Amino acid sequence: MKIRVLGAAAGGGFPQWNCNHPNSRRARERDPAAQQRTQSSIAVSSDGDHWFLFNASPDLRHQIIANDILHPKRDLRHSPIQGAVLTNADVDHIAGLLHLRESHPLRIYGTRRVLEVLKGNPVFNVLNPKFVARTVMPLDEPIELTGPDDTPSGIVVVPFAVPGKVALWLEDAAMGPNFGTVEEDTVALEVRDTDGATKFFYVPGCASMPEALTERLRGAPMVLFDGTLWRDDEMIIANVGVKTGNRMGHMSLSGDDGTIAAFENLDVARKVFIHINTTNPVLLDDSPERAKANAAGWEVSYDGMEIAL
Ligand code: MLT
Ligand code: MN
Repeated sequence: MKIRVLGAAAGGGFPQWNCNHPNSRRARERDPAAQQRTQSSIAVSSDGDHWFLFNASPDLRHQIIANDILHPKRDLRHSPIQGAVLTNADVDHIAGLLHLRESHPLRIYGTRRVLEVLKGNPVFNVLNPKFVARTVMPLDEPIELTGPDDTPSGIVVVPFAVPGKVALWLEDAAMGPNFGTVEEDTVALEVRDTDGATKFFYVPGCASMPEALTERLRGAPMVLFDGTLWRDDEMIIANVGVKTGNRMGHMSLSGDDGTIAAFENLDVARKVFIHINTTNPVLLDDSPERAKANAAGWEVSYDGMEIAL
């Protein structure tokens, strides 16, 4: 299986357009130790020719240009992109679908809930329903991804609910402390070869690590995991926001209940952070936090990163 990181940053990217935090500034100034990153998405393929996007970021047009595996290869209209698998309805994960208009055959996968959100927003009909299929992924059921012409991909995904939150733009304060969040709002994906040769987990958003999730991830060949914030109050102490990571539906990397500690004894062969916020010091090659993450066996993904499993 081949994986290409299209975008390693969280919503807003690195640097975020309106952010003057020192991290964003270093990235904007092209400091080589603060490599710019676009918004969170990966592409996955079993044959290197047919690719599925896992989430579709607002930076997708740029990401396609930057990754020749996604360029048209033949005929006047062609794309190696077979479709997109969505893990939630956040802007950073669905807005890129709008780049895929032009009556091009594709297949979009999401939970019933996420596909309902798309259906409720007629702007997504720019993906001409005559050519673009929408396929529900029931929770906990293995489903082989297929192209729009039903060609099997050799890739099976198992979507499963993880702790999270309804998309920011759908929060309903009247619904109580969880803002109307339902189980299907945030999923992670177990991704396998159909021949069972290998697998990995894609978990770009996760609010906590319940025991069942720990056990599921134990011993995995690779996990790509939510790297949004280094510490829960990071945006508050940096004076760039009022929300904690917890309020946004993200567990943080550091601390006793953080991600690094949670994975300590999980025997995951390859641990990679993705969806990293512009304020997170782990983005900086020369930060003590990066050194700590690396020392704990974590890699910090970057745009263009290639992973072969
Ligand atoms: C998140 O990951 O918390 C969201 O992408 C935030 C947002 O929509 O800006
Ligand atoms: Mn996000």
